[in-house]
Amino acid sequence: MMMSGLGFTRLASSCTPRYLSTATAWRTLSNDIVSDCIMAPSAGVRCNSTAPLGGDKQAVGAKDDKGIVSYWGLDPTKVSKEDGAPWKWTCFRPWEAYSADLSIDLKKHHAPTTLLDKMAYWTVKTLRWPTDLFFQRRYGCRAMMLETVAAVPGMVGGMLLHCKSLRRFENSGGWIKALLEEAENERMHLMTFMEVSDPIWYDRALVFAVQGVFFNAYFLGYIISPKFAHRVVGYLEEEAIHSYTEFLKELDNGNIENVPAPPIAIDYWRLPPNSTLRDVVLAVRADEAHHRDVNHFASDIHDQGRQLKEAPAPLGYH
Ligand SMILES: [Fe+2]
Ligand SMILES: [Fe+2]
Repeated sequence: MMMSGLGFTRLASSCTPRYLSTATAWRTLSNDIVSDCIMAPSAGVRCNSTAPLGGDKQAVGAKDDKGIVSYWGLDPTKVSKEDGAPWKWTCFRPWEAYSADLSIDLKKHHAPTTLLDKMAYWTVKTLRWPTDLFFQRRYGCRAMMLETVAAVPGMVGGMLLHCKSLRRFENSGGWIKALLEEAENERMHLMTFMEVSDPIWYDRALVFAVQGVFFNAYFLGYIISPKFAHRVVGYLEEEAIHSYTEFLKELDNGNIENVPAPPIAIDYWRLPPNSTLRDVVLAVRADEAHHRDVNHFASDIHDQGRQLKEAPAPLGYH
């Protein structure tokens, strides 16, 4: 586990009860760090404070008046890796890193039997044709571009469930968080592939256009039929597994150089320091298989005439 030196000391002294989850322990840890930093301003550390830069000079009004004119300088908590090196990523924190479960069954496939499932299946198969035509064997670029699309459904679904939870004063059964986790995971795939691929202007233009269409289409689709929407994503994930398997073949054949893994990927999937692009693709492919399961499961819940909240979401499933 990666943590700050200060946090590690606190954890080692059993300040954090062992029955807490990892995430809870980290939150406790972060709060400890924050309060320590705020209590020790003389050390010159500004970990997390609402005090403006320049101290009291920017305070407005009387001494007891809490009005301030700038919140600039609200820094994230300082954390470090196991070896003591500072944690350099701001887009994710050590407690969000994990080891990909590579043992997941990659061949699992939801057999479409109902009309709706067949529509979802053929929608995805139809979308694959222009994708193959456009990217052909540019698997690095293809992966990066597809991740720009793959990160949309979880965010849209999570957002709609969030609004529904607010409207109806009801719990989501963890599905809001599960879908947002998926969106974030997909975005991390993108952040990783950005390191090994360089999109040209028409790639970027395509992302722009596709996002505009896909976001709105998925938004409407999810409102009309979440069962169909989740099924489509389930099949998209099956296609993603296929694409990454082809990517691996190209790497193994030497058609794509097996470059060292980007540092962001090493930290995100807790990979050994000497990992390569192949290890990254294996981790990403395993993630896609988990997304496949989550979305087919969500669609199956709807298929039984139930709501997502009635079946606990597979949180942290990756
Ligand atoms: Fe992905
Ligand atoms: Fe995915």
